[in-house]
Amino acid sequence: MNCKIAPSLLSADFARLGEELARAEAAGADWHHVDVMDGHFVHNITIGVPVVKSLKAIASIPLDVHLMITDPWRHAEAFLEAGADILTFHAETLYMGEARPLIAQIHAAGALAALSINPETSEELVLPYLEELDMVLVMSVRPGFGGQSFREDVLIKVRRLREEHGFAGDIQMDGGISRDSIAACAEAGCNVFVAGSALYGAADMQSEIEVFREQIAASAKS
Ligand code: DX5
Ligand code: ZN
Repeated sequence: MNCKIAPSLLSADFARLGEELARAEAAGADWHHVDVMDGHFVHNITIGVPVVKSLKAIASIPLDVHLMITDPWRHAEAFLEAGADILTFHAETLYMGEARPLIAQIHAAGALAALSINPETSEELVLPYLEELDMVLVMSVRPGFGGQSFREDVLIKVRRLREEHGFAGDIQMDGGISRDSIAACAEAGCNVFVAGSALYGAADMQSEIEVFREQIAASAKS
Protein backbone atom coordinates (compact mmCIF):
# COMPACT_ATOMS: atom_id res chain seq x y z
CA MET A 1 0.00 0.00 0.00
CA ASN A 2 0.91 3.60 -0.47
CA CYS A 3 2.37 4.70 2.89
CA LYS A 4 2.20 8.28 4.04
CA ILE A 5 3.94 10.13 6.85
CA ALA A 6 2.05 13.07 8.35
CA PRO A 7 3.94 15.17 10.92
CA SER A 8 1.49 16.69 13.41
CA LEU A 9 1.77 20.45 13.72
CA LEU A 10 0.63 20.18 17.32
CA SER A 11 4.28 19.63 18.23
CA ALA A 12 5.56 22.44 16.00
CA ASP A 13 6.63 25.89 17.21
CA PHE A 14 3.38 27.87 16.83
CA ALA A 15 5.30 31.14 16.65
CA ARG A 16 7.02 29.94 13.47
CA LEU A 17 4.36 27.87 11.72
CA GLY A 18 5.43 28.80 8.19
CA GLU A 19 9.02 27.72 8.81
CA GLU A 20 7.79 24.55 10.52
CA LEU A 21 5.67 23.59 7.48
CA ALA A 22 8.68 24.14 5.26
CA ARG A 23 10.83 22.02 7.59
CA ALA A 24 8.37 19.11 7.33
CA GLU A 25 8.15 19.40 3.54
CA ALA A 26 11.93 19.50 3.16
CA ALA A 27 12.13 16.43 5.41
CA GLY A 28 9.92 14.44 3.03
CA ALA A 29 6.51 14.62 4.74
CA ASP A 30 3.53 13.50 2.64
CA TRP A 31 0.75 15.38 4.49
CA HIS A 32 0.60 18.04 7.20
CA HIS A 33 -1.59 16.78 10.07
CA VAL A 34 -3.54 19.66 11.62
CA ASP A 35 -5.22 19.01 14.99
CA VAL A 36 -8.35 21.09 15.56
CA MET A 37 -9.69 20.94 19.15
CA ASP A 38 -12.70 22.76 20.57
CA GLY A 39 -12.20 22.51 24.34
CA HIS A 40 -15.38 20.41 24.48
CA PHE A 41 -14.90 17.14 22.62
CA VAL A 42 -11.41 17.25 24.10
CA HIS A 43 -10.04 19.37 26.90
CA ASN A 44 -7.61 21.36 24.78
CA ILE A 45 -8.21 24.25 22.36
CA THR A 46 -5.83 24.50 19.43
CA ILE A 47 -6.05 25.54 15.79
CA GLY A 48 -9.06 27.17 14.09
CA VAL A 49 -10.22 28.09 10.60
CA PRO A 50 -8.07 31.25 10.08
CA VAL A 51 -4.90 29.31 10.84
CA VAL A 52 -5.86 26.51 8.44
CA LYS A 53 -6.49 29.14 5.75
CA SER A 54 -3.06 30.70 6.33
CA LEU A 55 -1.36 27.30 6.30
CA LYS A 56 -3.11 26.42 3.03
CA ALA A 57 -1.67 29.52 1.38
CA ILE A 58 1.88 28.30 1.88
CA ALA A 59 1.62 24.49 2.03
CA SER A 60 2.71 22.49 -0.98
CA ILE A 61 1.48 19.12 0.31
CA PRO A 62 -2.09 18.23 1.45
CA LEU A 63 -3.54 19.49 4.73
CA ASP A 64 -4.92 16.58 6.76
CA VAL A 65 -7.35 18.24 9.16
CA HIS A 66 -8.32 16.20 12.21
CA LEU A 67 -11.46 17.65 13.79
CA MET A 68 -11.60 16.80 17.49
CA ILE A 69 -14.78 18.83 17.88
CA THR A 70 -18.28 17.99 19.12
CA ASP A 71 -20.16 19.43 16.14
CA PRO A 72 -18.33 18.83 12.87
CA TRP A 73 -21.61 19.47 10.98
CA ARG A 74 -21.49 23.07 12.11
CA HIS A 75 -17.88 23.72 11.13
CA ALA A 76 -17.06 21.41 8.20
CA GLU A 77 -17.88 23.93 5.48
CA ALA A 78 -15.56 26.55 6.97
CA PHE A 79 -12.65 24.10 7.22
CA LEU A 80 -13.27 22.88 3.66
CA GLU A 81 -13.33 26.44 2.36
CA ALA A 82 -10.17 27.17 4.31
CA GLY A 83 -8.45 24.42 2.34
CA ALA A 84 -8.65 21.07 4.16
CA ASP A 85 -7.67 18.35 1.69
CA ILE A 86 -8.56 15.53 4.06
CA LEU A 87 -11.23 16.12 6.69
CA THR A 88 -11.59 13.71 9.62
CA PHE A 89 -14.39 13.77 12.17
CA HIS A 90 -14.99 11.52 15.17
CA ALA A 91 -17.43 8.60 15.37
CA GLU A 92 -18.09 9.54 19.02
CA THR A 93 -19.90 12.66 17.74
CA LEU A 94 -22.42 10.68 15.69
CA TYR A 95 -25.14 11.34 18.29
CA MET A 96 -25.04 14.94 16.98
CA GLY A 97 -25.81 14.19 13.33
CA GLU A 98 -25.62 11.73 10.47
CA ALA A 99 -22.34 10.67 8.94
CA ARG A 100 -23.49 10.24 5.33
CA PRO A 101 -24.51 13.83 4.55
CA LEU A 102 -21.25 15.07 6.08
CA ILE A 103 -19.16 12.60 4.08
CA ALA A 104 -21.04 13.71 0.94
CA GLN A 105 -20.38 17.35 1.79
CA ILE A 106 -16.66 16.67 2.20
CA HIS A 107 -16.54 14.85 -1.14
CA ALA A 108 -18.52 17.61 -2.87
CA ALA A 109 -15.78 20.02 -1.80
CA GLY A 110 -13.18 17.78 -3.45
CA ALA A 111 -11.66 16.58 -0.17
CA LEU A 112 -11.15 13.10 1.26
CA ALA A 113 -13.41 12.02 4.13
CA ALA A 114 -12.39 10.10 7.23
CA LEU A 115 -13.97 8.93 10.45
CA SER A 116 -11.93 8.51 13.61
CA ILE A 117 -12.34 6.28 16.65
CA ASN A 118 -10.88 6.85 20.09
CA PRO A 119 -8.94 4.05 21.80
CA GLU A 120 -12.01 2.93 23.77
CA THR A 121 -14.39 3.13 20.79
CA SER A 122 -15.29 0.01 18.83
CA GLU A 123 -14.63 -0.08 15.11
CA GLU A 124 -18.26 -1.23 14.77
CA LEU A 125 -19.25 2.44 14.68
CA VAL A 126 -17.52 3.05 11.34
CA LEU A 127 -18.56 -0.21 9.64
CA PRO A 128 -21.77 1.16 8.07
CA TYR A 129 -19.75 3.85 6.28
CA LEU A 130 -16.71 1.93 5.05
CA GLU A 131 -17.79 2.09 1.41
CA GLU A 132 -18.02 5.87 1.48
CA LEU A 133 -14.95 6.60 3.59
CA ASP A 134 -11.52 7.29 2.13
CA MET A 135 -9.84 6.72 5.46
CA VAL A 136 -10.39 5.49 9.00
CA LEU A 137 -8.29 7.11 11.74
CA VAL A 138 -7.61 4.82 14.68
CA MET A 139 -6.46 6.86 17.67
CA SER A 140 -3.68 5.20 19.64
CA VAL A 141 -3.81 7.71 22.51
CA ARG A 142 -6.57 9.60 24.25
CA PRO A 143 -7.20 12.57 21.92
CA GLY A 144 -6.33 16.04 23.10
CA PHE A 145 -2.60 16.10 23.74
CA GLY A 146 0.65 15.18 22.03
CA GLY A 147 3.47 13.23 23.64
CA GLN A 148 1.46 10.32 25.13
CA SER A 149 2.52 6.67 24.98
CA PHE A 150 1.36 4.46 22.13
CA ARG A 151 -1.43 1.99 23.00
CA GLU A 152 -0.82 -1.35 21.38
CA ASP A 153 -4.31 -2.63 22.28
CA VAL A 154 -5.83 -0.59 19.43
CA LEU A 155 -4.02 -2.62 16.74
CA ILE A 156 -6.66 -5.35 16.88
CA LYS A 157 -9.17 -2.85 15.45
CA VAL A 158 -6.91 -2.21 12.46
CA ARG A 159 -6.57 -5.94 11.87
CA ARG A 160 -10.32 -6.44 12.03
CA LEU A 161 -10.96 -3.57 9.60
CA ARG A 162 -8.54 -5.09 7.09
CA GLU A 163 -9.04 -8.81 7.58
CA GLU A 164 -12.67 -9.23 8.68
CA HIS A 165 -14.23 -6.25 6.94
CA GLY A 166 -11.93 -6.02 3.91
CA PHE A 167 -11.44 -2.26 4.19
CA ALA A 168 -9.08 -1.26 1.39
CA GLY A 169 -8.98 2.49 2.05
CA ASP A 170 -6.38 4.30 4.10
CA ILE A 171 -6.01 3.45 7.78
CA GLN A 172 -4.30 6.17 9.76
CA MET A 173 -2.77 5.77 13.20
CA ASP A 174 -2.37 8.84 15.41
CA GLY A 175 -0.77 9.05 18.83
CA GLY A 176 2.57 7.91 20.20
CA ILE A 177 3.94 6.95 16.78
CA SER A 178 7.71 6.71 16.81
CA ARG A 179 10.51 4.60 15.32
CA ASP A 180 9.65 2.04 18.05
CA SER A 181 5.89 1.73 17.44
CA ILE A 182 5.51 2.31 13.70
CA ALA A 183 6.41 -1.21 12.50
CA ALA A 184 3.67 -2.84 14.60
CA CYS A 185 1.14 -0.40 13.12
CA ALA A 186 2.25 -1.12 9.56
CA GLU A 187 2.17 -4.84 10.20
CA ALA A 188 -1.41 -4.58 11.51
CA GLY A 189 -2.46 -2.82 8.30
CA CYS A 190 -2.00 0.93 8.81
CA ASN A 191 -0.61 2.93 5.91
CA VAL A 192 -0.85 6.54 7.12
CA PHE A 193 1.20 7.52 10.15
CA VAL A 194 0.82 10.71 12.18
CA ALA A 195 3.63 11.73 14.49
CA GLY A 196 3.98 14.94 16.44
CA SER A 197 6.63 14.78 19.12
CA ALA A 198 8.70 12.08 17.38
CA LEU A 199 9.04 14.18 14.19
CA TYR A 200 8.83 17.86 15.19
CA GLY A 201 10.85 16.98 18.28
CA ALA A 202 13.56 15.19 16.29
CA ALA A 203 16.89 16.93 15.85
CA ASP A 204 16.81 15.90 12.19
CA MET A 205 13.27 15.33 10.91
CA GLN A 206 14.43 14.06 7.54
CA SER A 207 16.52 11.24 8.94
CA GLU A 208 13.71 10.36 11.38
CA ILE A 209 11.23 10.10 8.47
CA GLU A 210 13.77 7.89 6.69
CA VAL A 211 13.92 5.62 9.75
CA PHE A 212 10.09 5.52 9.77
CA ARG A 213 10.07 4.43 6.12
CA GLU A 214 12.73 1.79 6.75
CA GLN A 215 10.70 0.40 9.65
CA ILE A 216 7.57 0.24 7.46
CA ALA A 217 9.48 -1.51 4.68
CA ALA A 218 11.01 -3.99 7.14
CA SER A 219 7.58 -4.82 8.56
CA ALA A 220 6.32 -5.58 5.04
CA LYS A 221 9.13 -8.12 4.56
CA SER A 222 8.69 -9.88 7.89
C1 DX5 B 1 -3.64 14.01 19.71
C2 DX5 B 1 -3.49 14.43 18.27
C3 DX5 B 1 -2.25 13.96 17.63
C4 DX5 B 1 -0.98 14.43 18.30
C5 DX5 B 1 -0.02 13.28 18.23
O1 DX5 B 1 -4.92 14.27 20.15
O2 DX5 B 1 -4.58 13.97 17.48
O3 DX5 B 1 -2.23 14.24 16.24
O4 DX5 B 1 -0.39 15.54 17.70
O5 DX5 B 1 1.11 13.61 18.95
P1 DX5 B 1 2.25 12.52 19.30
O6 DX5 B 1 2.72 11.97 18.00
O7 DX5 B 1 3.24 13.32 20.04
O8 DX5 B 1 1.57 11.46 20.15
ZN1 ZN C 1 -4.42 14.16 15.28
